[in-house]
Amino acid sequence: MTVRIHPSILSADFVNFQRDFETIANSDSIHIDVMDGHFVPNLTFGLPMVARMQEIAPCPLDVHLMIDNVDRLAEGYADTGAASVTFHAEASSDIVALARRVRACGAKVGVAVKPATALDEVLANLSEFDMVLVMTVEPGFGGQSLIESSLHKVELARVEIDRIGADILLQVDGGIDEHNIARVANFGADTFVAGTSVFKSVDRAGQIELLRELASHPSI
Ligand code: DX5
Ligand code: ZN
Repeated sequence: MTVRIHPSILSADFVNFQRDFETIANSDSIHIDVMDGHFVPNLTFGLPMVARMQEIAPCPLDVHLMIDNVDRLAEGYADTGAASVTFHAEASSDIVALARRVRACGAKVGVAVKPATALDEVLANLSEFDMVLVMTVEPGFGGQSLIESSLHKVELARVEIDRIGADILLQVDGGIDEHNIARVANFGADTFVAGTSVFKSVDRAGQIELLRELASHPSI
């Protein structure tokens, strides 16, 4: 299984994104947290910022939309040229229709669930998605501790992805660090968002490689 590390720029310097991007240029993708102050109680940035990031980023962008009105807004983010756009199942009135529209824009599409949201609807429509994001914290803020009870959904998703044999990434987001990444990988995740643990490191590129190495040997 190929491990992917996606640093979250929620923990970056918001007036120096370009500089900070260069410090994580060895990441597989840069995770961009879009928050609207409604779907989550925090506000980051919107479409013009993401479009500009797309122009200057040294890696593909993995956009995580934590916004309401996603049925209306998600395609705009896909049109920026982002490699993937992930929306929350809780925010969409029709996750399959929206996934198809995002894919039609040329982006990979991901579907995310909060810790308390069941995976049933996602698993019933799995082939419509390129990525499943199981949130391991309540979305909204960086620096929280991983919620252990969310990990059983990672296991459920892994079983179903393997059963249908599809090329679907299984992403986890929230509280991932060098102490727990191997254990989370054991549950079946292959794509790891890490905000605090990367950006608070003195050697960010080295931390990315450490996380990748630890997740690549989950049974050790
Ligand atoms: C939380 C965001 C995460 C966050 C992760 O709502 O979706 O991407 O930045 O940050 P850490 O790794 O610090 O938990
Ligand atoms: Zn995120």
